[in-house]
Amino acid sequence: MTPDADIALEGLPPGPRAPVAMQTLAMLTRERPFLERARRRYGRVFSVHVAGFGHAVVVADPELIKQTFRADPRTLHAGTESPLRATLGPNSLLGIDEEQHMRQRKLLLPPFKGQRMKQYEPIIEEITNAELDTWPVGAEFETAGSFHAITLRAILRAIFGAEGARLETLEPLVRHWTALGTRLTVARWLQRDLGPRSPWGRFLRLRAEIDEMLDALIAEAKADPNLEQRPDILALMVQARFDDGEPMSNPEIRDQLVTMFAAGHETTAHTLSWAIERLRRHPEVLERLVAEVDEGGHALRDATIREVQRVRPVIAFAGRTSHRPFELGSYRLPIGTRILLAACLTHFDPQLFPHPDRFDPDRFLDKLPDTYSWIPFGGGVRRCLGATFAHMELDVVLRVILQRFTLVPTDAPGEGWNYLGVAWSAADGGRACLRVRERVGFEEAPAEADEPPLFAAAG
Ligand code: HEM
Repeated sequence: MTPDADIALEGLPPGPRAPVAMQTLAMLTRERPFLERARRRYGRVFSVHVAGFGHAVVVADPELIKQTFRADPRTLHAGTESPLRATLGPNSLLGIDEEQHMRQRKLLLPPFKGQRMKQYEPIIEEITNAELDTWPVGAEFETAGSFHAITLRAILRAIFGAEGARLETLEPLVRHWTALGTRLTVARWLQRDLGPRSPWGRFLRLRAEIDEMLDALIAEAKADPNLEQRPDILALMVQARFDDGEPMSNPEIRDQLVTMFAAGHETTAHTLSWAIERLRRHPEVLERLVAEVDEGGHALRDATIREVQRVRPVIAFAGRTSHRPFELGSYRLPIGTRILLAACLTHFDPQLFPHPDRFDPDRFLDKLPDTYSWIPFGGGVRRCLGATFAHMELDVVLRVILQRFTLVPTDAPGEGWNYLGVAWSAADGGRACLRVRERVGFEEAPAEADEPPLFAAAG
């Protein structure tokens, strides 16, 4: 080893030298092929230059991903520069860093612990059954709309604790607010309140209406004599205390609730559409899943969910920004460097996942995915707060579908990828074609008490 081998190179790793406009276009229209080519040429860490984003370092190496996820939160930020801060509010977990982030996250983690998730299964099952009652039989249709409806209701009921008239009023409000917010998050130049008819003006007024409803829900929870028995996350947030004994303020609770909604609704819905899209093209997996559900099992379903998330990650990157110089492998990255931890590349690395384009749930059947090469939920102290909730929800929805319907396989080419501002969805909305199952004996399915412990904890 030469004396210089330990000295980190100052600056960014090399990367494609095409003009910014071309790199930007490639990222928007051919993201994966563009990044794959860069990886072949420069290795598992390289720089790209994208308009409106500047220089960014793309990381697709599990060791370097580990180093980044484990970095000191004072060195790498994920929140304060995020465009989501403006749309989700100043307390949003996605828009804060360092002590403020850890303080909020510490309070929000316990409600999302794995053991608690079982309580939400009946709610998700009820919501799914009601939506599936509307599904057409024998004709192709897009599942995306239905999955959005399911995941939206799931969050409003299980997380916000909204029921009855409150649920009916909140639902269209948050639907409208998220649709507008998704577009406005990236269009920063539109973030000016020019009155109630301007996009940002409308967005702010919708948020004020939502906040009013949330304040009412918080007040009701505080006055509820049965608060301690309530399973919803809002009820737990109301009871939680910071280390100094202080409760969360209403603005904090509101910002965290809308953050959970924004982060957890479309991501889960898109993953479900991708699951339908993949399964219809893999009848052998489908057949085994149906046999398993009839026997009351779920190991293959767990593995299938993880494989769908590997092969169709809806969030391409987890992002960090350096606030101090950061040593990443053999580079010393300057302050202000954007770092993109690339699920969209790492998940397709043939050395990590042999035949990466093959949809093969068996790769996760007897083992959990590796923390630093399977990263659909990001990682470290910023790992998705709702990962266990999402896995539970994906599991329940798929189980109910498999129990009620036969998904008709197709030999149509796979659906393309469609970028919708934050997440990647199936371009045709995850088209399904169904037959009603003849035998629906799932009420008698054996209890899941003797599940293998390996699969007990999701996410
Ligand atoms: C399949 C569904 C989901 C996917 C793919 C997903 C993905 C992600 C990713 C990639 C991150 C960033 C992690 C990082 O920077 O390291 C994240 C953060 C987050 N997610 Fe999810 N998510 C999903 C569902 C949910 C759900 C259901 C909820 C809430 C109920 C949720 C709440 C959050 C929150 C609050 C954060 C911020 C965590 C922090 O900064 O400390 N997500 N998610």
